Amino acid sequence: MCGIVGYISKNANPESLHLGIEALKRLEYRGYDSAGFAFWDERKREIVSQKAVGKITSLEQKIDPRNSFFANPLILHTRWATHGGVTEKNAHPHCDCKRNIWVVHNGIIENFKILKARLEKEGHKFTSETDTEVIAHLIEKFFDGDLEEAVRKSLGYLEGTYGLAIICRDDPRKIVAARLSSPLLIGLGKDQYLVASDPSAVIAHTRKVVYLEDGEIASISPEKFVIYKEKKPEDIEWSQEQYEKAGYAHFMLKEIMEQPETLEDAMRGRLIIEEGTARLGGLQSVEKKLRQVDKIYLVACGTARHAALVGEYMIEECAGIVTKTDAASEFRYRKPILDRNSVVLAISQSGETADTLAALREAKARGILTLGITNVVGSSQARETDAGVYTRAGPEIAVASTKAFTSQLAVLALFALFLGRQRQLPLTTGESIAKELQRIPALARRILENSAHIRELAKKYQGFENFLYLGRKYNYPIAREGAHKIKETAYVHAEGCRGGEPKHCELALISENFPSICLAPNDSVYDKMISNIEEIKARKGPVIAIATEGNQDIKNLADDVIYVPETIEILAPILNIIPLQLFAYHVAVLRGCEIDFPRNLAKSVTVE
Ligand code: G6P
Repeated sequence: MCGIVGYISKNANPESLHLGIEALKRLEYRGYDSAGFAFWDERKREIVSQKAVGKITSLEQKIDPRNSFFANPLILHTRWATHGGVTEKNAHPHCDCKRNIWVVHNGIIENFKILKARLEKEGHKFTSETDTEVIAHLIEKFFDGDLEEAVRKSLGYLEGTYGLAIICRDDPRKIVAARLSSPLLIGLGKDQYLVASDPSAVIAHTRKVVYLEDGEIASISPEKFVIYKEKKPEDIEWSQEQYEKAGYAHFMLKEIMEQPETLEDAMRGRLIIEEGTARLGGLQSVEKKLRQVDKIYLVACGTARHAALVGEYMIEECAGIVTKTDAASEFRYRKPILDRNSVVLAISQSGETADTLAALREAKARGILTLGITNVVGSSQARETDAGVYTRAGPEIAVASTKAFTSQLAVLALFALFLGRQRQLPLTTGESIAKELQRIPALARRILENSAHIRELAKKYQGFENFLYLGRKYNYPIAREGAHKIKETAYVHAEGCRGGEPKHCELALISENFPSICLAPNDSVYDKMISNIEEIKARKGPVIAIATEGNQDIKNLADDVIYVPETIEILAPILNIIPLQLFAYHVAVLRGCEIDFPRNLAKSVTVE
């Protein structure tokens, strides 16, 4: 995991360290338990390095403002610990015995123990518990004046994944970067180059980037960069403003509030009302193949997996295709039953989640058609799938995914509609789903405009340490996602269950101190949900109901009600999750949690 940045310029200047740190802050979502940098000081002609435990601000505080540095080249790192605890010693960059070669690394070196033992036998002295440090010592072993060559030789020994940026005191006018299954790009600025794990880190300086492919090595000097393959620069789609908080206290709140617009963007130009279908440009090349498909495997992690669970209901209902959802981390180990008419569809906000990519690669290796739904243009997933659809939600910074989730649901609804109309879904049904989809952004806006009540409820319920979230059918995954949100943001224990299940277990937990949040919109399972709420009330459990506007009866049963505008059953999840996002957010704020960067987590999990 982790985020890495590299910087090299034609004109060394005292601002470069600050520039590098600001770029690194954009990657903090990838890990934030410690940070560090190393650079060649062009004036003093020496390597300077600093590390700190904690967020990047702790690292910044360690820089003596009386010193001016001409950092060029410079590498920086923000860490999410995998091998070795969260200590300053384990923070990156790591160096070799002579403090000559300095490495920042995103990924995992799986054979590091064997390599470390061999290197130690040869006399190398290690100072950290990390897997990364072996890379520095390996390069040291092969270094004879040419960093690039030594890196090339070393990479041959590594098993695992890496995005790397490396500098060297004895070959100081370059950064060597390399990638294998961990994202890495080069930003082409004016008289300067940046290396980064993703475009957010370079957007303040350039919109032109070159994405490294797996197995590529780049050598970047102030004047030019060489990748051992000719590559055309691509444009970054998002603007710098989209990476700012825009006056909101937290990115999470900003992203929740953006949902009416992001939902519109997800659907813009994609609905053909009169044909009751969707046009998904990214799937055109495989449209014919999709007609033959008789099984769809959805793979995803975390919040995206909850979107997949909703997608499973949508696709089965609209298109009658057998659909199965699996955690990407399980998919490749369970021997999934796939044949030539199966499709594997990966869903991922970042398009970089290691487990999801591994599942895709497994499917590809078996000759299965692979599709993707992702938010990040140019991400590994986007490049590795046969075809796919972008969610167009704009950059999502908060670790807790909100707007990307509802966009995934909107795209899944479009996909289900499209598949349905390729098959037996009647025009009139298709038309009414398409028309209702068009209304969804406005309905989402209405929820957000009337959200003050949710904050009040958060105040009332903030002291509880446990919550049960309940939903049936389309709202079962929303119960899961609601529980997920409050766990990751407010550190409150919660479980998301199917409405019919607690009588087999969770009712044993229910008491005055264990509230339930019950999704009970007007739909085909409403009466059943009401019975389930009764069962909870009979055991004195407090209940917050999420119900359809106008339902007065439910007030007699639930302790509190959050109303959501009426829509059709298949699209209700898109609206119903919004109050649960807000509830989790406000509880987390009231409990004093660090909203955008929850402890022990990271936005993009690039290790398996
Ligand atoms: C991490 C994040 C979650 C996210 C999941 C999948 O666990 O904390 O918020 O849902 O990764 O990420 P992806 O980028 O694949 O959607």
